[in-house]
Amino acid sequence: MELTKTALPRLEPTHPSSNTDFADAVLSGLSLKQKTIPRRFLYDRRGSELFEEITDLPEYYQTRAEIEILKTNASDFVANVADGAALVEFGSGSSRKTELIIEALAKLRLYIPIDVSASALDGARERLSRTFPTLTVLPIVADFSQPVRYPAAISSVPKFGFFPGSTIGNLAPAEAIHLLRVLKSSLSEHSRLIVGVDLKKDIGKLVRAYNDAAGVTAEFNLNLLQRINREIEDSFDITTFRHQAIFDPIHGRIEMHLFSLIDQDIEILGRSFPMRQGESIHTENSYKYTVDEFRQLAAKSGWEAVQTWTDSQHLFSVHELVAA
Ligand SMILES: C[S@@+](CC[C@H](N)C(=O)[O-])C[C@H]1O[C@@H](n2cnc3c(N)ncnc32)[C@H](O)[C@@H]1O
Repeated sequence: MELTKTALPRLEPTHPSSNTDFADAVLSGLSLKQKTIPRRFLYDRRGSELFEEITDLPEYYQTRAEIEILKTNASDFVANVADGAALVEFGSGSSRKTELIIEALAKLRLYIPIDVSASALDGARERLSRTFPTLTVLPIVADFSQPVRYPAAISSVPKFGFFPGSTIGNLAPAEAIHLLRVLKSSLSEHSRLIVGVDLKKDIGKLVRAYNDAAGVTAEFNLNLLQRINREIEDSFDITTFRHQAIFDPIHGRIEMHLFSLIDQDIEILGRSFPMRQGESIHTENSYKYTVDEFRQLAAKSGWEAVQTWTDSQHLFSVHELVAA
């Protein structure tokens, strides 16, 4: 395949995640003692839009802190990138932060954003193609926890990685180690990966970031139940659930939950799931690390953290990892 902008459509997954996958995940998650639904389902079209709104909230310091680090250090991040390498981003969402990296890499010709949200990828490609007319944007709709299957025309192009937004924090440490190994296999040998990681800090500040006063994070979390109503069966009365994020000091993580306000039975696809008042569906974790904790975790997954940057208030960190 010739590598021209017109020849490159959005690449859909070989085994697209279907309504059956979603329904299976919901049925098995609601069968557990602590009910749960896998976090990747938070990001349908509406979920991606709401996440973008979250990044602008006064309480949500992460995006501003990471952008400060990227603005201040973009030229350092790209100093070691091989000529002709393509930029691969995992969980790219709107790709807004990526513009800072693309601007710093005058010679970049190919950008490959990977996300489960097709609508977020479409929006990003449209905007970036206008802003950077000489850049080829090749979005791939895929689950980044599986090794990426690139089209033959670009399989041998050297690739370096970008994984911002502390998305790595959504995984438990053992899963994060496994994911970092998978990401290594999705990049080139001796590659580099720039990862954004939220830092441990004052618990009040953390909890406020996920329980914003305007209720946007609540809407983002409740959209998961609305997505079930839209795509599987109209099973949830949203008004009988309340979003709440709590800090778990034992695991060092924020947990997002949807608490039932009443005793009720949730009926989905012929099955019934009783929920008592005060019982919750656990929807997402956000693990927080110190700089040293994350560097150790990276070392366990076959990466060496060669540089780390933080923002002026020491809220967020960005690490440059080199395949060890
Ligand atoms: C916390 S948001 C970060 C978005 C953006 N990178 C940023 O820094 O603002 C997580 C992003 O990862 C995507 N995502 C979550 N799980 C994924 C998975 N398993 N595979 C691919 N993308 C995923 C979501 O759709 C969402 O766009």
